[in-house]
Amino acid sequence: MSGGADPRSPAATRRRSLAVLLAALVVGCGGGDGGPAPRVEIPPELARRAAPPRSYEKPLGAALRLGPAQDDRAYLRAFATTFTSMTPENAMKWEIVQPKQGEFDFRPADALVGAARRTGKQVRGHTLVWDQQLPAWVADKNRKPEELAAVLRDHVKAVVGRYRGRVAEWDVVNEPFDADGSWTKSVWYRVLGERYVSIAFRAARAADPGARLFLNEVGAERPGPRARALRRLAARLRRSGVPIDGVGFQNHTVIGNNPSRAELLRTFRSYGRLGLDSAITDMDVVIPSEAPPKDALAKQARAYRDAARACLEADRCTGLTVWGVGDRYSWKGSALRPLPFDVSGRPKPALDGLRDTLAR
Ligand code: G3I
Repeated sequence: MSGGADPRSPAATRRRSLAVLLAALVVGCGGGDGGPAPRVEIPPELARRAAPPRSYEKPLGAALRLGPAQDDRAYLRAFATTFTSMTPENAMKWEIVQPKQGEFDFRPADALVGAARRTGKQVRGHTLVWDQQLPAWVADKNRKPEELAAVLRDHVKAVVGRYRGRVAEWDVVNEPFDADGSWTKSVWYRVLGERYVSIAFRAARAADPGARLFLNEVGAERPGPRARALRRLAARLRRSGVPIDGVGFQNHTVIGNNPSRAELLRTFRSYGRLGLDSAITDMDVVIPSEAPPKDALAKQARAYRDAARACLEADRCTGLTVWGVGDRYSWKGSALRPLPFDVSGRPKPALDGLRDTLAR
């Protein structure tokens, strides 16, 4: 194939990298479809100097949404005064940062990363490769493997490169497996097979050698087919020298059936034996809206406390992130009351379960 047509050729790679870099710089700074870049205003009393972040033994994080962070003072106050880590709930996902090929929009993510910096939080980047929240253009052509690999490398390079030095941990690949332990048949797996994982991790390491790189999964906190598949993959990646640093356990759970402290500790330690860190990355604890038990809030607090204790006791657990600040904006819907703050932004017993356990 002529140099021009072969996506792997040095010339094509250089051309593409330059185009991606220019696009990321131009549009990402709000030069895209016009309009001022969104910003989260941090009142002086919430800025890091006035309200230094709490001191925990390990980072306590929350997934943050741009809209409420801009419009809901109780939400922003709860975030700023409670947490020490921030994960953009959606702003760094492919459909938002590269909605069209070569057109980047980092404005929402920039606003949230700026809010984290101004309130003294670390940032967890989420997520570079997933089968959900992908814009149609990624999968709408029958790309040859090397073409799709180039699309993937360019995306990871542009996104990780933009936040180089500002993101402590990246969820590089999210949810690679189905509940039965088979590979999720995403466009990534269908076209590239499992090597899409190593392509993404190597591109992320090259773009920011200082960021810790995580594989992130749901429903793998306890033994089962998905947990087995995840651990086998993690072991293969380590053996083959793929730059993976840790595994994220989302821990989306429900009162009465949450992983215990001992179960989580066993899982974290089993990955420690592979030389990998662990993190709880997306936690929430649903309270069923139908006939919840009288002690539902106490059970929820216990589930959060168990997770915090497991992370504290496991040397290589790097932190605990809850998937939202308060029930009002939970992806699960406020009726299921899954988070540490209630719909009005008031603390629930769950927050004590987290803060008391992690406080220095
Ligand atoms: O932005 C559009 C908006 O323009 C439109 O009006 C609105 C109504 O359709 O939809 C908005 O997009 C929604 C998006 O969140 C942003 O709010 C999507 O419909 C909705 O499906 C999407 O849900 C997100 C979900 O991932 C997608 O699977 C949740 O907010 C987000 O909390 C959730 O997060 C995932 C983690 O990334 C990975 N772990 C599991 C976790 C829960 O699924």
